[in-house]
Amino acid sequence: MEDHSKIVGEGLKKMITKLVSMSKADKHDVFNDISWPDQLDDNQFWISRHLISLYNTPLIEQVSEEELYRLSKEECVNFFSLNVHGIRELLLDVMQYIHQPKFEVVSEFLHHFIDEENEHMFFFAKFCQKYAGKIYDDKFLKYPTDNTSGNVRLFFVFMRIWTFEMIVDYYNSQMANDKSLHPFIQEINGLHHKDESRHIAFGGKLLQSVFKDLLELESSETINSIRTYTQNYIKNRMGMFYNPYAYKAAGIEDFFSMRNVLLENEGRREMHKEILKGMLNKLYDYEIILDKNIYS
Ligand SMILES: [Fe+2]
Ligand SMILES: [Fe+2]
Repeated sequence: MEDHSKIVGEGLKKMITKLVSMSKADKHDVFNDISWPDQLDDNQFWISRHLISLYNTPLIEQVSEEELYRLSKEECVNFFSLNVHGIRELLLDVMQYIHQPKFEVVSEFLHHFIDEENEHMFFFAKFCQKYAGKIYDDKFLKYPTDNTSGNVRLFFVFMRIWTFEMIVDYYNSQMANDKSLHPFIQEINGLHHKDESRHIAFGGKLLQSVFKDLLELESSETINSIRTYTQNYIKNRMGMFYNPYAYKAAGIEDFFSMRNVLLENEGRREMHKEILKGMLNKLYDYEIILDKNIYS
């Protein structure tokens, strides 16, 4: 028997009311309001230089500026593609909870969440198709799902959503303010960041509350396996940014070994720590992880 009786405490209730009114006030029509440039110049950075997956390794010094532009375009398309796939997965997960018993208070917020994520999937997919003629498939973007139920499953679903959103939001918020990027690329990143800040506020609070109940109700063995799954999931998600097919499209010859080399690279580990810092601090505060250094 599933019990979600304690998913919404008073703090979360107040937050939901506020977030719903913010969503209404910030409502825009992305299907009509975005002005899409006919094309974007290939001779420019499509993601920020410091977000390219070779950054902070000696490899970045071995490629010309033109080759970096090319790689940044492929990694931009990869980043937006992983958003498309991530959103489809999270929508499938969220749909199972809306208007179920005990989700009454959350359901109105979930309507806005679903609405906004549908818009995000639309503009990310359109960007990929319009400017690159492709969406990268999700071969390197999948993670095995779990076979749990009840509040453990609820935790996993919203943990996967929240950690994914936190990682993506690091990239979005950096690029929304990077004046070296095309204004339209800044705009798309900014648009996503604005909606995501509400989703992240909600998800963090929900996770904290659900995990608190799990700590009281579940065995230490279950809690340990939840912690391990969470850490592995986060590390796996960071692997999404090393798509061999993006390297191939950018003209890198050893594209498969490039992924493996970079995933083992110390400089890249340092970058991961920087990207994940805010999220790991929160997970540590919520007691969901016991060590902020998940790469140790
Ligand atoms: Fe989104
Ligand atoms: Fe979101």
